[in-house]
Amino acid sequence: MDIASATLRRVKPSPTIAMSNRAAELKAAGRDIVALSAGEPDFDTPEHIREAAKAAIDAGHTRYTAVDGVPELKRAICDKFRRDNGLDYTPAQISVGTGGKQILYNALMATLNPGDEVVIPAPYWVSYPDMVLLAGGTPVAVPCGIETGFRLTPEALEAAITPRTRWLIFNSPSNPTGAGYARDDLKALTDVLLRHSHVWVMTDDMYEHLSFDGFAFCTPAEVEPGLYDRTLTCNGVSKAYAMTGWRIGYAGGPEPLIAAMRKIQSQSTSNPCSISQWAALAALEGPQDFLAERAAVFQRRRDLVVARLNACDGISCPMPEGAFYVYPSIAGCLGKISRGGTPIDSDAAFAEALLDEEGVAVVFGAAFGLSPHFRVSYAASDAALTDACDRIARFCAGLKARAA
Ligand SMILES: Cc1ncc(COP(=O)(O)O)c(C=O)c1O
Repeated sequence: MDIASATLRRVKPSPTIAMSNRAAELKAAGRDIVALSAGEPDFDTPEHIREAAKAAIDAGHTRYTAVDGVPELKRAICDKFRRDNGLDYTPAQISVGTGGKQILYNALMATLNPGDEVVIPAPYWVSYPDMVLLAGGTPVAVPCGIETGFRLTPEALEAAITPRTRWLIFNSPSNPTGAGYARDDLKALTDVLLRHSHVWVMTDDMYEHLSFDGFAFCTPAEVEPGLYDRTLTCNGVSKAYAMTGWRIGYAGGPEPLIAAMRKIQSQSTSNPCSISQWAALAALEGPQDFLAERAAVFQRRRDLVVARLNACDGISCPMPEGAFYVYPSIAGCLGKISRGGTPIDSDAAFAEALLDEEGVAVVFGAAFGLSPHFRVSYAASDAALTDACDRIARFCAGLKARAA
């Protein structure tokens, strides 16, 4: 019996989680696997944040809290938006949820009607289109290829907007490409949006603190104050503070939207974990200097991985501005056959054969809506990255032309 609802049947499970699970299973079965598929920092949560969580337990912060966050955390989030982004929000304009994921999901659930369109630049974070589908909307993927540095152009945005467009989901630096939008690039997009007053902006700033080579992060409502009243600025502590398991994300936006999101949360999960909220408060109010130190470590790893991948036969890897991913093209590998006999006719086949034959777990590009590519997460040790790159190089060197 198929117990799935019609809505659920339109949705696919997260391919990144599926790949990480597959790698873990193979490892548990004794295979020598290097997993570069997970989207989380390999650092520990800093000690002062862990201590704050322990103190929160001892102080009795173990009960239900206000549905969308304790006032102390909301005030700290207002301070963060002012300090880092020049954005003024009041606590009534702040929503705190169980990870950035729930924040985005709540916003879509709260606002989409059947037939409403959501413009999503591709490649995209895997959850955006499926969240839109779960909320009853229609995802409109706009291909943003390697030739535009994986960035949405103003022309492509203009062409994608229809009278049914409700949201643009914007993500910089990006998962899966690491591409970041400089202020001028972003201004060109916000100029388009100014002309379409029915389109709102959901900006996912999760990788704000992970940028390299002096890249200056900026966010839509800051670049174009004229969009402030129709922008939801989403962020969280998961990636910057190595707190993926704590599940705290947040957003600032117009009060009626925040109230609508609160209503969804009040009838689904209620408050995010009370202890995690106090830990997030310590993260946002505590020392921030380690953020730059950790970004420097990621920058060094990015340089290593990009150089090594570009030396592989058939692979071309652009240099990203941020996050901890690279998104190389495998156009030069297509049409070949692997040493183990797998025809490489898609990026899914490439990733599958790479895992089977060399034990390297990456995520194929079709999962992110743009082929032929794969995503490498370089949130791993130098030794693991070097080992993985050796194996990828060997795999590519072993690809043979198919007999005519
Ligand atoms: C672009 C992007 N947005 C949101 C999230 C979700 O973050 P969280 O773990 O806080 O739910 C992720 C996590 O992978 C992400 O990559």
